[in-house]
Amino acid sequence: MTRQNTLLLIAIALIVIAATGVAVPWLLSPAQQGSQVTGTALVGGPFELTDQDGKRVTDKDFRGKFMLVYFGYTFCPDVCPTELQAMTTAVTRLGEDAKRVQPIFITVDPERDTVEQMKTYVSNFDGGLIGLTGSTEDIVKATQAYRIYFAKVKDESSSAEYLMDHTSLVFLMDENGTFRRVFSYGTDADTMAKGIKEELAKS
Ligand code: NI
Repeated sequence: MTRQNTLLLIAIALIVIAATGVAVPWLLSPAQQGSQVTGTALVGGPFELTDQDGKRVTDKDFRGKFMLVYFGYTFCPDVCPTELQAMTTAVTRLGEDAKRVQPIFITVDPERDTVEQMKTYVSNFDGGLIGLTGSTEDIVKATQAYRIYFAKVKDESSSAEYLMDHTSLVFLMDENGTFRRVFSYGTDADTMAKGIKEELAKS
């Protein structure tokens, strides 16, 4: 996602909040986030997708583990690889606790991100990263649950047919699938590992 797009999204979010009084969790202070967690979960929900081995999986298959969820696409030139590197490194730095956390990468570009493409791509990362794709309908449902914005954009400077503009946030969901925390774009692996440890300690 470009810097201009990030600023535009923030502007739109602020307008939405001003108009409706509805705030999204990542714009709340930590204290407010805490109170949101005990109420209705604002982020997350059911999904049914296909993993990198071609197996259909749902959010319920991950119950009992924390999920670290990121939406992006394998053709992303820089943002997605950076974020996936940070989140998978964070998981490996948890030591013993690493087995309590499942990092998950969900594509917003199912057209190009086939099962085979996802399998090759996730093999570049540590931490047992799982890659999920599916039909366009599957992906739309999952992005709606996590309030992810995505759109195809033409890129004149690249030989690729198109790029995907998309929200770049890493969501931490607990063993019950409930939203715990969100890490903004650019959060480094150590900071993320510390945040995950804090949430694991509450469970
Ligand atoms: Ni990306």
